[in-house]
Amino acid sequence: MYLERLKLDGRRALVTGGASGIGLACVEALSEMGAQVVIADLSEPAIASARAVMEAKGHGCEGVVMDVTNSTRVTEVADRLGAIDILVNNAGIARSETTAETVADEHWLNVIDVNLNGTFWCARAFGRHMLSAGRGSIVNVGSMSGFIVNRPQGQSYYNASKAAVHQLTRSLAAEWADRGVRVNAVAPTYIRTPLNEFADKEGAMYRRWIDSTPMARLGEPEEVASVVAFLASDAASLMTGSIVLADGGYTCW
Ligand code: NAI
Repeated sequence: MYLERLKLDGRRALVTGGASGIGLACVEALSEMGAQVVIADLSEPAIASARAVMEAKGHGCEGVVMDVTNSTRVTEVADRLGAIDILVNNAGIARSETTAETVADEHWLNVIDVNLNGTFWCARAFGRHMLSAGRGSIVNVGSMSGFIVNRPQGQSYYNASKAAVHQLTRSLAAEWADRGVRVNAVAPTYIRTPLNEFADKEGAMYRRWIDSTPMARLGEPEEVASVVAFLASDAASLMTGSIVLADGGYTCW
């Protein structure tokens, strides 16, 4: 019974930002658990290479070019695809290392647009179909940065965007709980993906990240994807509005 509830056979999932990093790992995890997955990302070549990686692992995936900041396009894709049972709102950017007093309007707006607005446009568009069907599971990729302030790099815009994603998760969860749609989030620590490549592995900043983490390491994309897949599945049927930390203990200190 318990293993059965983790299975996603017959479900259709869409992962935003699914062509790289955590998103790609989510595509693999959901596929392996039985779902038919759509990879949504910014460019056709990126989607094609992600699909090829999944194909080599035995998972056939669909792909769709969709910029999550374009609400018209998001709605169009949601209406065209119809029934999507699982939405993973993973697309996000960080643009870290700019102090609050020097951040430009464009920088602030861009990060909020992708991380917060994009999450809402997708939840709204795909959520409408889930509400009509009376079932669905949305998993947002938040961050431990929604709880703590990262050190030493300045990234106020990112931290604010992720805290907002967490509160949006709880708000949508409360609104949709009695209509069959669950909304949860995962809040990861630093994960080894292109998003963190700005940090020199031999440098002081990287060292500080490791020293601030009880497990003394970064996380791997699949360690986030397994939490996302669990939250997406019926094994998490009583969970909605939860923000699940996957942080190697970072927030304990
Ligand atoms: P990544 O840079 O490897 O992948 C992000 C993907 O999102 C890329 O494929 C990119 O093309 C896509 N994307 C960016 N803007 C988009 C848009 N407007 N519309 C559609 N797709 C878009 O990054 P990573 O690390 O895999 O990040 C995924 C999520 O995890 C983000 O929301 C990030 O904030 C979050 N996160 C990452 C952490 C890390 O340390 N890597 C830690 C905590 C949270």
